[in-house]
Amino acid sequence: MRLGIAGIGTVGVGVIKIVEKHGELLANRCGEPIEVVAVSGRDRTKDRGVNLDGMTWYDNAVDLASDPNVDMVLELIGGSEGVARELCTKALEAGKPVVTANKALLAVHGTELATLAEQNNTSLAYEAAVAGGIPIVKAIREGLAGNVFTRVYGILNGTCNYILTEMEETGGDFGDILADAQKLGYAEADPSFDVDGVDAAHKLAILTSLAFGTPVDFDSVYIEGIREVTALDIQFAQEFGYRIRLLGVARQTEKGIEQRVHPCMVKRETAIANVSGVFNAVVAEGDFVDSTVYEGRGAGEGPTASAVMADVIDITSGRTSPTFGIPANKLTDLPKVPVKEHVGCYYVRLTVLDQPGVIADISAAFRDEQVSIESLLQRGRDPEQSVSVVLTTHEVQEEALVRALGRIENFDHNVAAPRMIRIAKL
Ligand SMILES: NC(=O)c1ccc[n+]([C@@H]2O[C@H](COP(=O)([O-])OP(=O)(O)OC[C@H]3O[C@@H](n4cnc5c(N)ncnc54)[C@H](OP(=O)(O)O)[C@@H]3O)[C@@H](O)[C@H]2O)c1
Repeated sequence: MRLGIAGIGTVGVGVIKIVEKHGELLANRCGEPIEVVAVSGRDRTKDRGVNLDGMTWYDNAVDLASDPNVDMVLELIGGSEGVARELCTKALEAGKPVVTANKALLAVHGTELATLAEQNNTSLAYEAAVAGGIPIVKAIREGLAGNVFTRVYGILNGTCNYILTEMEETGGDFGDILADAQKLGYAEADPSFDVDGVDAAHKLAILTSLAFGTPVDFDSVYIEGIREVTALDIQFAQEFGYRIRLLGVARQTEKGIEQRVHPCMVKRETAIANVSGVFNAVVAEGDFVDSTVYEGRGAGEGPTASAVMADVIDITSGRTSPTFGIPANKLTDLPKVPVKEHVGCYYVRLTVLDQPGVIADISAAFRDEQVSIESLLQRGRDPEQSVSVVLTTHEVQEEALVRALGRIENFDHNVAAPRMIRIAKL
C-alpha cells in the first residue's frame, strides 16, 4: 500500500514516524507493506525531523490524487474548504481511498464526501477527526452496531478541558489560565476555534451522524464556549457537588435530535467529571449495551497518528464500511430540537444589590415563569455592594428559564447579566 500524505505537520510527521518504526508489524497486520511514497507541504525546505528522501514532493497537494504511484491519500492539512476539500474530492473521484483527520471538512461536507466515496466504490475514513487517539468512530460504527443509540456525549476538546481543570485547581480566571495554556502549547495563538466550542461542535456533528444515521448537520449544532465561565462559577459548582466541563451532547428525544456544545455542571462522582487536563472522553449509550465510556488523548502527534494508522490498516486489509455506518443514501434527516426546547436542570448565578425584598422578587420571577427552584444560597452581606445569589432549578424548559432571567435582569437591584449553566443529567 503506497501512501501519499498531504500535510506533514504534527499529524503527518506522526504518521511517517509510525510507518518508519513499525514497518514489519504494519505489514503483518495489513497483509502487505505500507510505504509513504509522496508528500505535500507548503515549505519544501523545512526540517520536519523525519526523512523524506525517496518520497515525491508535491507543492500542490491536489496532485497526489492523480499520482499513479499513490494508492491511498492521507489528507492531514485541515480546513473545511480549499485544498483539503479539493484533494479529498479528486482522490475519491479517482477511486482512491482517503483517510483524513479533518473534522472541519467532515462536519461541513461529510455527507457529500461519503456519497462520493460510495459512488466511486472507495472509502473515506476519519477516526482521527473525533477525539484523536480514542477509537470512538470504530466503537460506534462497529463495536456497538447492534444498538439503537439514545445519547452520545463527551469532552471533545482537550484545550477547554485543560483550562477548566486548571481553573478549578488554581482558582484562576479564564484569561490567565488561557494565557498559561498558550505558553505551554495547549492552546493555539488564536484559541477561538477551541474555546468558543467550534472544534467540539465539528466533532459532535460527525458523532451525531454516526450514532443516529442522519446527514451531517453542523449548522444545527447549538454552540456555546467557555469564555464566560468564571472562577466564581467553578467555586459554586464545587459547593453544589459539581465540576464544570465543556460537553458535546447528541441525543434523540421524541421531538428529534438535540446537538449541543456548552459548559455543563457534571456531578463530581461521574466518569466525565473525573476526566482532567487535556484528555478527551466519550460516553455512548445504546439500548442494549447501556452506557460505555472511552477516555484517552484527544490530540497530539502520537495519538492522532495512531488513529490515522488504524484507518490505513483497516482499508489495506479490506475492512471497510460506509463512512457513517450506513450507506449515504440511507442517512435520514430527523427534526433538530432547538436548545430553547431543551428540558433540564439549571445552575443560575445572579449578581444583585443586597436589599430587603430582592429574594422575594427573584422568587416571583421564577414563579411567574413556572420555574421551580431546587436550592438557593446567598453569599456576602453588604447593603452597599452587590452579592451573588446562586440557585439550582428543578427540570424546566429552557425558554421558560430564559424568560425568568430576562425579568430579573430588568430589576433595579440586578447589577450584572444573570449567568446560567446547564446541569447535565448523566
Ligand atoms: N494536531 C492534532 O493534535 C490534531 C488532532 C486531531 C485532528 N487534527 C487534524 O489534523 C489535521 C492536521 O493538523 P496538524 O495539527 O498536523 O496541522 P499542522 O501541524 O498545522 O500541519 C498542517 C500541514 O499542512 C500543510 N499545508 C498547509 N497548507 C497546505 C497546502 N495548501 N498545501 C499543502 N500542504 C499544506 C503544512 O505545510 P508546512 O508544514 O509546509 O507549513 C503542514 O505540514 C487538521 O485537520 C487537524 O484538525 C489534528
